[in-house]
Amino acid sequence: MSQPLQHFIDTQDLTPTTLRRQMDLIEALKAADRQNACPRLLEGASLGMIFEEASTRTRVSFEVAMTKLGGHALYLKPGEIHLGEKENIKDTAEVLSRMVDAVEIRAFKHDTVTEFARHARVPVLNGLTDYNHPTQAVCDVFTMTEHTDKPFSELTVVFVGDATNVCTSTAQIVTMLGGTFIHARPEQYGIKAQWPTVLDEVARNEQLYGGRYLETEDVEDAVVNADYIYTDLWWWFGQEDEIPDRVKAFKPRYQVSSELMARAPEHAKFMHCLPASRGVEATDEVMDSPQSIIYDQSENRLHTEKGLLAWYVYPRITHATESLRRYHEGRIEASLESLR
Ligand code: CP
Repeated sequence: MSQPLQHFIDTQDLTPTTLRRQMDLIEALKAADRQNACPRLLEGASLGMIFEEASTRTRVSFEVAMTKLGGHALYLKPGEIHLGEKENIKDTAEVLSRMVDAVEIRAFKHDTVTEFARHARVPVLNGLTDYNHPTQAVCDVFTMTEHTDKPFSELTVVFVGDATNVCTSTAQIVTMLGGTFIHARPEQYGIKAQWPTVLDEVARNEQLYGGRYLETEDVEDAVVNADYIYTDLWWWFGQEDEIPDRVKAFKPRYQVSSELMARAPEHAKFMHCLPASRGVEATDEVMDSPQSIIYDQSENRLHTEKGLLAWYVYPRITHATESLRRYHEGRIEASLESLR
């Protein structure tokens, strides 16, 4: 009997216990990979990867993760599949569910991913929407734990800038693990102004798990006790018309510069999910400084995708015994004998 169908759409789908077990699995798979000993847990399995938007890290990490686990990934680009043009979400989800073992989907709208998951009969992993970026968030807290000896409940993560999809997921996951999350931003670009329901989720995490959520315009004060200073793009696809307003609101105060980093403790690390607009939300000096762990984050996307794919897909696939394989091989070879 395979495991009941589970999707990964939002970090709020997790509990701290599940999340910690996932991080242990990611760590084990990373250690195995370091010795070129990654177990082929998904031998023969396939992953459909739907991308409505461009991607470097998510695309490459999911594809390489499937290969390392012994499976296979298909890159399904808009215009090259019928989704959104000649075919609706339900039909595509039903059909892919008959052919692949899991689907990763990056969509402009969060509703596209939730509707796809509603109709899918295989695990669906959210590869980023306008609302959140849960696989990045799991990767980021895993990366944070690699760079500290403190328990997560003693960590302070300061997110500087816009309430992006990465910001909402980071607020949720940090508070789920009992840490402190501070959003330093101009008020109109805060989570409350853009994604008010996230604050309900965060409040739930504060109550259940002891995390702390704060928001402020005072970025200089916010970073004083930071263990991690995180930033993201000031605008995304479709927000090009807003660039002048956004630059005016964020620059120079919310740019992560050496001066801002100098206000934080010496051990504070700089994080960015990438891609970055260098010289905009963060200076080159910060991005390339010894405090920067941006490439560790990127590499950990690969180990995270391996962990998440193994977590959601491995329990659902049938692992045939050698005798069953031999039985089918015999039957099939006998039917092909007539073609000789
Ligand atoms: N961080 C991230 O999701 O990067 P990509 O857009 O390159 O996938």
